[in-house]
Amino acid sequence: MQIHIHPVLGEKFTEEVTFYFNNKPLKAKKGQTVAAALMANGIRNLGTSRKFLQPRGLYCATGRCMSCFVTINGVEHVLSCMTLVDEGMKVFPSNEDPDPGSEINGS
Ligand code: FES
Repeated sequence: MQIHIHPVLGEKFTEEVTFYFNNKPLKAKKGQTVAAALMANGIRNLGTSRKFLQPRGLYCATGRCMSCFVTINGVEHVLSCMTLVDEGMKVFPSNEDPDPGSEINGS
């Protein structure tokens, strides 16, 4: 279920884009987050937790819990709830936790 005409925001999400999850083409509305687009396509499992080896998914949807990270266009550990979906975007689940000693974190 998606909102197409919002009572406050007006007509939103009218432009359709194609993105890929595990190389499978999926439709989304431009302006949606990647997480919302995945949920709209019935995809709930965004990876596996390292410690308990359980499925991870959307939890806070505000960029605070780190539960929703995925790999987008080759960049690992991108928060899907804070990233807007775009045409041709390639999304993969992430099964490893971020390395706090990696170059991205300044070490
Ligand atoms: S769902 Fe919590 S950071 Fe994305």
